[in-house]
Amino acid sequence: MTNKAIVLFGATGDLAQRMLYPSLFHLESDGLLPEALTIVGTARAPLTPSEFTAKTRNHLIERTGDHFCEAVWVRLEKKLRYVSGSADAPNTYKKISTQVDGAGEFVFYLSTSPSLYGVIAKNLATAGLAHSASRVIVEKPLGRDYESCKEINDSLAAIFSEDRIFRIDHYLGKETVQNLLALRFANTLFEPLWSKISVEHVQITIAETVGVEERWSYYNDYGALRDMVQNHLLQLLCLVAMEPPASDAPDAVRDEKVKVLRSLRSIPASDVSQHTVRGQYIKGVADGETVPGYGEEPGGGDSDTETFVAISAYIDNWRWAGVPFYLRTGKRMPSRETQIAVQFRNVPHSIFQDKELQANRLIIKLQPDEKISLTLMNKAPSLLDAGGMQLSPVALNLSVDEADQEQFPRRRIAYERLLLEAINNNPTLFVRRDEAETAWTWIDGIVDGWQRQSQAPSKYPAGVWGPSGAHALTERNGHSWIE
Ligand code: BG6
Repeated sequence: MTNKAIVLFGATGDLAQRMLYPSLFHLESDGLLPEALTIVGTARAPLTPSEFTAKTRNHLIERTGDHFCEAVWVRLEKKLRYVSGSADAPNTYKKISTQVDGAGEFVFYLSTSPSLYGVIAKNLATAGLAHSASRVIVEKPLGRDYESCKEINDSLAAIFSEDRIFRIDHYLGKETVQNLLALRFANTLFEPLWSKISVEHVQITIAETVGVEERWSYYNDYGALRDMVQNHLLQLLCLVAMEPPASDAPDAVRDEKVKVLRSLRSIPASDVSQHTVRGQYIKGVADGETVPGYGEEPGGGDSDTETFVAISAYIDNWRWAGVPFYLRTGKRMPSRETQIAVQFRNVPHSIFQDKELQANRLIIKLQPDEKISLTLMNKAPSLLDAGGMQLSPVALNLSVDEADQEQFPRRRIAYERLLLEAINNNPTLFVRRDEAETAWTWIDGIVDGWQRQSQAPSKYPAGVWGPSGAHALTERNGHSWIE
C-alpha cells in the first residue's frame, strides 16, 4: 500500500485550526484515515513541532468538546509534523520533502491567500513533489471576478492537470446537500413533478445571525455576492436544477451542473434593480443583543459592500423556463436558516369551496437542523363538517438527525467528507474549472449592473430579513419568502 501524505499550507490559520484539524481528528476517531498517513502542517509561524502540536491539541479540545478522546489524539499526534517557513522560500519545500520522505501520494491543501497558489504550485514542482500521484486542494475565494479566477486557474494548471485540482466548496460536503441528490435520483416520486409544469418557484436561503466577525478587511473586498452567491448558493441551485446525470461519475455530475450555470439568464444593467437587492446591516438587535452596524465592526469603516443580497434568477432551458429561483443570503438575519424550498403549483381547480388550499411545498433544510419536509393538505379530524371539510396543511417530516441518531450520534463537519474524498482521489464533490469560471461570468454581469446603475446597498437593521426591497422582489411575482 502506498504511503500517503497531506500537506496543509496555512496550518496555523483560522480554517485549519477550526475546521481541518478537527475534521482529521474525527476521521481518525472513526478509523477512516489511512494507517500510513503523514500530516504535515506548514506556516510562517516560527513554532517548533511540539509547540505546534500543543497549540493544535488545545484548539481540538475546544472544538471537539465532549468528543475529544485522548486515545484518538495519541494516534493522530503520531501522524502530525510541522514545518515553519514561508510559502515562497524554496527551503520550506526541502524541509517538507524530508518530512514526507517515503510517501508516494500527496494531497496539498492550500489554505492560504489565493495570491500564493501559483507560487506554491511552482515550488512544489521544483521540489519534485507535484508528480502524477499528487493533487492539490484549493480554498475559496477563487478570485473576485472571471479574470482573476482564470488567472489563478492558469497558474495551477501550469503544474497540475485539471483532474488533480480539487476546488473546495464546503457546502458540497454537507450531509443534506448529498441527500438532495439521493432524494432526486434514488426516488421516482419527484422527477415527474420537478419542472415548470408543477413547480411555481424555488427559494434558496442562506441566512446567518453572525456579522462579519473578525474578517472585515477580507469581507469588505468581496461582499455577500462574491462570498456566498458565486459559490455556495449557485452550487445548491445547480443541484436542484440539474438534469439527472448518467451516473455518479465525477464528470457526469459536473457536466450537468455546468449546463445549469450556462443556462442562467444574465441580468442586464437595465434590469439589475428589478432582479437584485443589495443590503448592508446597521446597528440593531440580533440574538437578543444590541449589535453594531457593519461599518462599526472591528476594523470597519465607511463602505459600499453588501452584507445581504437577494436575486431572482431564471434558468433558460426547457425544464425551468419562466420559473423564478429566488436566491437570498445575509448576515445579521433574525435566525440561522439555510434551506431550499420548492414551491409547487396550487391545484388547478378546488372542489372545496371557500377553503384556502396551500400549495404543496418541499423544504430541504440544511441548517440549523437537517430536515426534509413535504407539506400536504390534510383533513382536520372532526365530525363537525357541516360547513364543509376542515382542511389544514401538515408536514411529512424526514428528520435526518433523528433517523440516524444512533448510527451517527455526531453531526459531521462538511470538511470531513471532503478531506476523505480528496485522500481517496474522488473529485465528484469538488468544483471543476468551467463551473467556477461560468459562475463568475454570471456574477460579473450583476456587479457590472450595480456599478452602472450606482446601486448602493440599502441599510437594514441587524435582526431583520434584509431591506424591504427584498420582499418587493418576490411580491412582484405574487410570491413571498418562506420564513
Ligand atoms: C463561508 C463564508 O464560505 O461560508 C462565510 O466565507 C460564511 O462568510 C460561511 O459565514 C458560512 O458557512 P456555514 O457552513 O456556516 O453556513
